[in-house]
Order: sequence, then structure tokens, then C-alpha cells
Amino acid sequence: MRARGSWLPSFVLVLALSGAAGAADFLGPESCKGCHPAAYEAWMQSKHARAGDSLSEAQQKDARCLSCHSPDQGSQGVSHVTCETCHGGGQYYSPAYVMKDAELARLVGLVDPSEKQCRNCHDASSPSLKPFNFVESLKAIDHWSAERTGKSPRAESSSPEPAKKK
Ligand code: HEC
Ligand code: HEC
Ligand code: HEC
Ligand code: HEC
Repeated sequence: MRARGSWLPSFVLVLALSGAAGAADFLGPESCKGCHPAAYEAWMQSKHARAGDSLSEAQQKDARCLSCHSPDQGSQGVSHVTCETCHGGGQYYSPAYVMKDAELARLVGLVDPSEKQCRNCHDASSPSLKPFNFVESLKAIDHWSAERTGKSPRAESSSPEPAKKK
């Protein structure tokens, strides 16, 4: 209580900043396509790209089904399980200068998708006959191998830049 006057403003500022990143708007998968064509093509082949289409017209209005098959349809107007469902809304991290800075990108909303995230949808209440196997499932949605062979990875970059930012 005693310190309220001094800590409150900065506390609110931190909240506002993290809130801004957390509430980043979705730009839609087409927005990623230009810079990540290989990832986009691979994703298009996956069931995630059509997950909303597995629902009947009535089910497409049912929040219980949408929560996994098209979770961002209502709030962001982006259907299916898309890039941003897993990687976070791209509003702040998509600009090229941000994307090239791995740390900054994460600071403003880029998410490294975790097993826990998969399991939010691939859980006991989804209709799969087999239990969810993270390692196998990752292979089935691989859209990064092509990305990584297409470019030289940042870490092994042979570019002659003298002072490489860590
Ligand atoms: C203007 C071009 C551009 C756009 C648009 C763009 N990216 Fe990127 N993205 C990049 C670049 C450049 C990198 C860094 C790649 C590298 O260094 O090999 C990157 C890296 C990434 C990474 C890897 C980050 C890391 O540090 O491991 C992910 C994941 C990613 N982008 C997802 C997305 C998603 C999802 C979208 C759409 C919402 C998107 N990007 C839009 C250019 C872009
Ligand atoms: C907890 C997340 C979750 C919810 C909620 C959910 N689903 Fe699914 N659904 C999944 C997953 C994950 C799969 C894919 C299972 C697999 O093959 O591993 C799936 C698969 C399906 C399929 C099969 C699609 C195909 O290509 O064979 C249908 C149809 C379906 N769901 C309909 C529904 C309907 C209708 C509802 C609402 C009553 C619903 N789902 C709610 C996660 C969910
Ligand atoms: C179902 C969740 C999911 C969806 C949907 C998804 N991704 Fe990913 N993405 C991942 C995971 C998980 C990884 C990391 C895999 C690994 O490192 O083993 C990844 C990796 C990447 C990488 C490579 C990062 C690197 O280190 O090189 C890029 C780029 C990327 N995704 C872009 C996209 C784009 C663009 C889309 C949409 C067209 C998309 N992703 C859709 C889960 C997803
Ligand atoms: C927002 C919910 C959601 C998240 C998060 C999610 N998935 Fe899915 N996934 C689904 C739904 C729904 C389906 C079924 C799509 C359909 O056929 O209608 C599916 C299908 C799949 C399939 C295809 C299954 C088949 O029968 O071919 C694989 C593989 C998969 N997901 C892997 C992953 C992995 C790996 C992650 C985490 C990196 C992940 N998913 C995250 C909702 C999700």
C-alpha cells in the first residue's frame, strides 16, 4: 500500500506493453506467404489449413467446435488453424526488420509453438483413436525443413557482416 503511488504507473505501463503484444492482431496466412513460401505451401497441404471445413454449417457456428477447428474466426476473422494460431498474431513481428531479429520478434508476440499448445487441441476430447504423439505429429506438419534448406540459417550465416548482433 505504502508504495502504491510510485509503483503503480510503471506497473500499468508494463501491463499495457505486454497487453499490446498479447493482443496483436492477426494478419492472416496470406501475409506470411510472401516471405515464407515453402512454409505456406506445406501448411496448405496440412489438415490444419482446412480444419474449419470439417464442420457442418451448423457446427461452424458452434463455439465448442470452433475452439479447436477455427479458434480465431470470431475474434480475428481468420478461419482454420493458421500460422498465427500457433505462432501468435503477426501485427507487430511481421515487418522484415523485426523478423530478422529473433529476440525482438519474440518480444512483440512471435511464439515458439510448444507441445502444450498442441495438446490444448489434441487432447482426450478430440476424436483421434491414437493418443497424441508429439514427435510423430511434428513430422506430419513439417513446414520448416524446406524453409531451413532454402536459406542459410541465421546461426550458420556465412555473411561477411563484421559485428553480428547476438
Ligand atoms: C517481410 C517478410 C516476412 C513476413 C511478412 C513474415 N516473415 Fe517470418 N521471417 C522473416 C525473416 C527474414 C525471418 C528470419 C529468417 C532467417 O533468418 O532465416 C523470419 C523468421 C520467422 C520465424 C522463425 C523465427 C526464429 O527466430 O526462429 C517464424 C516462426 C516466422 N518467421 C513466422 C512468420 C509468420 C507466422 C508470419 C506471418 C504472420 C511471418 N513470419 C511473416 C520474414 C518475414
Ligand atoms: C479439443 C479440440 C477439439 C474440439 C473441441 C473439437 N475437435 Fe474435432 N478434431 C480435433 C482434432 C485434434 C482432430 C483430428 C484428430 C486426429 O486425426 O488426430 C479432429 C477431427 C475432427 C473430425 C474429423 C476430420 C477428418 O478430417 O477426418 C471431425 C468431423 C470433427 N473433428 C468434428 C468436430 C465437431 C463437430 C466438433 C464440435 C462438436 C469438434 N470436432 C470439436 C479437435 C477438436
Ligand atoms: C499447428 C501449429 C503450427 C502452424 C499452424 C504453423 N506452424 Fe510454423 N512451426 C510450428 C512449430 C511447432 C515449429 C517448430 C518446429 C521445430 O522447430 O521443430 C514451426 C516452425 C516454423 C518456422 C521455422 C522456424 C525456424 O526455426 O526456422 C517457420 C518460418 C514457420 N513455422 C512459419 C509458419 C507459417 C508461415 C505458417 C503458416 C503458413 C505456420 N508456420 C503454421 C507450428 C506451426
Ligand atoms: C487450435 C487447435 C490446434 C492446435 C493448437 C494444433 N492442432 Fe493439430 N489439428 C487440429 C485440428 C482441429 C485437426 C483436425 C483437422 C481436420 O481434419 O478437420 C488437427 C490435425 C492435426 C494433424 C493431422 C492429423 C491427421 O489425421 O492427419 C496433425 C499431424 C496435427 N494436427 C499436429 C499438430 C501439432 C504437432 C501441433 C502443435 C505444434 C498441433 N497440431 C496444434 C487442431 C489443432
